[in-house]
Amino acid sequence: MLPSNLETAVLGVITTPVLHLADRHHVFAHLTAAGPARAEDIAQALRLDADTLERMLLLLTAHQILHRTPTGHYEVGPDVQPFLDPGDPHYIGGFLTHLVQETAPRTPALGAYLRHGKTAVDGPDARPFASLYRDEQSTRRFLTAMWDLSYAPSRELAALGDLTTSTHLIDVGGATGPFAVAALHHAPALEATVFDLPQVEPYLDETRKAHRLADRLHFTPGDFFTDELPEGDCIAFGYILSDWPDPTCAQLLRKAHRACRPHGHVLVMDRLFDDTRQGPLATSAMNLTMHLETQGRHRTAHEFTALLHDAGFTRCEVRESSGDKHLIVGYSD
Ligand SMILES: C[S@@+](CC[C@H](N)C(=O)[O-])C[C@H]1O[C@@H](n2cnc3c(N)ncnc32)[C@H](O)[C@@H]1O
Repeated sequence: MLPSNLETAVLGVITTPVLHLADRHHVFAHLTAAGPARAEDIAQALRLDADTLERMLLLLTAHQILHRTPTGHYEVGPDVQPFLDPGDPHYIGGFLTHLVQETAPRTPALGAYLRHGKTAVDGPDARPFASLYRDEQSTRRFLTAMWDLSYAPSRELAALGDLTTSTHLIDVGGATGPFAVAALHHAPALEATVFDLPQVEPYLDETRKAHRLADRLHFTPGDFFTDELPEGDCIAFGYILSDWPDPTCAQLLRKAHRACRPHGHVLVMDRLFDDTRQGPLATSAMNLTMHLETQGRHRTAHEFTALLHDAGFTRCEVRESSGDKHLIVGYSD
């Protein structure tokens, strides 16, 4: 028998697609709405093959994602339920789809990266977002994954971000607005501008309508490599610096310093490695996916504060959240 840590790692290749398929076929939504049910009843309700479904449910039970009663009824564990319920802000369905359909097919590239290095394989001018936004379907898939990853944590981060004293938030690479929306809900006097690539605008429009924020949530199309950032008194970077190498981060933070009004602040929101780099697991895993999908990496809090200092933000504070995405605040004089 394998040690459990090795067993979980080895069998992840089966578990992740099963979790994704069960989600896509509404198994968790059904169990959440209908309560505990047997495999044959779930299969009948969702028009699935009962034998295949039961095998999938048994695997998820062994992982303690589902609970199986002695009468053969399955239920979703209360600790994971919010993350698997499409109606809950913590739902990770879009992130799972991204991992299975976008990240997993890229993993064979790691072999070539190992032998030759990423730059030699991809070329020095690789543009990660041209690939992620290659068509309507993959653009929506990526932006949905971002919303699913970022909206729930943003509600806590907005409360940590000193936003009630700000008037205009610039959310750099703000995508469909998970942080901007949380910030506007948290600080009723605030206005927010998402600055992002032009392709993102139609999807941000959907958010403005869905959240009835057309008058306070604005969009400025642009490219942060060639354009200056719009001016504001709070400049946010959520999961942006982890997409890019240090010299690019330094360039972006210098632009943020120029765009930041006096006594304003910058918010860097990202996963953090702990100082020993022994974890957390999610940061180590996503550090590798950054290598596959972007040009970036994950950093420690000290590495972020050094980048902020160099860009002119003389006072920095690290504010850890209860989740995976943390906040480093840099204050402008
Ligand atoms: C990893 S996503 C982060 C989304 C969001 N801030 C969050 O925290 O979930 C990176 C974002 O940067 C945007 N982006 C990438 N390159 C850009 C560029 N050159 N100029 C402006 N935005 C860019 C992407 O469109 C995307 O919305």
